[in-house]
Amino acid sequence: LTAEKGGYKHFMLKEIHEQPQALEDTILGRVDGITGQVRFDELENFSLETVERVIITACGTACHAGMIGKYSIEHLAKVPVEVEYASEFRYRQPLLNEKTLVICISQSGETADTLAAARLAKDSHARVLSICNSMGTSLTRIADWTLYTRAGIEIGVASTKAFTCQLAVLFLLALYLAQQRKTIENECILYQVQFLLTLPRQMNELLKISDHIHELAREYYLYHDFLYLGRGVCYPLALEGALKLKEISYLHAEGLSAGEMKHGPIALIEPDVISVVLLGRGITGVKTLANIEEIKARKGKVIVISHPEHLEVIPPVEKLLVIPETSEFLAPLLLIIPLQLFAYYVALEKGSDIDQPRNLAKSVTVE
Ligand code: G6P
Repeated sequence: LTAEKGGYKHFMLKEIHEQPQALEDTILGRVDGITGQVRFDELENFSLETVERVIITACGTACHAGMIGKYSIEHLAKVPVEVEYASEFRYRQPLLNEKTLVICISQSGETADTLAAARLAKDSHARVLSICNSMGTSLTRIADWTLYTRAGIEIGVASTKAFTCQLAVLFLLALYLAQQRKTIENECILYQVQFLLTLPRQMNELLKISDHIHELAREYYLYHDFLYLGRGVCYPLALEGALKLKEISYLHAEGLSAGEMKHGPIALIEPDVISVVLLGRGITGVKTLANIEEIKARKGKVIVISHPEHLEVIPPVEKLLVIPETSEFLAPLLLIIPLQLFAYYVALEKGSDIDQPRNLAKSVTVE
């Protein structure tokens, strides 16, 4: 079994370390580094000309990927995007028609709620595009088109490499739609593509902080409450960071929009509460800096994971980790690495069953 785990103690750790390769495989052949042109051979007869609205629906980690994808699709392709948990979507009688594109995201392709959402969309004459990691699964049979993430088999219940590959496909899709709809300048596409192609190498670099994060986990695993804060693309990323910790360490962790702190959650801050603050690139990162001051003023402990842009203005905190430079929309693919490693090592210190956490299943095939 150790051999299957490639020398790693758990599949989850192995899968975290497989992300640079998985990402490279997922991007391979889909984007031209010189022209920036994105191509998806799978999207034959696909035209967005008649699409007026995109709805992304999924469960768990896949839904967090969708929430992040919304930012790049709306910004680059200028098409309105809504994101909804499949378990909500399926019973809401959503307004759908042939001008709606419903994107269903699933690692397994067998999640009951996601399948029901896809069927509902088809029955309502919407067009269904699936983003899936498993070939020939139920979801891909329902969908009109499928874009595969090429993460390889994921065994750890807590999803890691499937998530980063979902982010990559959604980002490529945003560029693809932008090219079809001619909504952005070629220069802008090239700028994004350059960063995308550098990501696997940057991820490899970042993974070297693994031991460092293990130390951090040793310092914090006895605490009970963790808040994950972010804005913009870092808000859904905060949800995902908190989910990872909950899933495998059984600690209470909440993902929050940093801008909403003042409307309630700030009341939770005290010395025993750990805030993990995510600073992405751009204005939302800048705005989140204020939260750090507010938490420090209330004696809360703060771990910051930041894009290099903010380095000079971050106030003193318990721990500061910095990711390599990237674009605003791609920052989640790097920021997630320390979050996954932190969840993993906290769970390791706590001695929980990391690859098969209690009460959870890899794929929830019944409602
Ligand atoms: C389960 C898994 C999660 C996963 C979710 C959706 O809850 O434990 O890791 O994100 O299902 O799974 P899917 O296969 O549809 O991506």
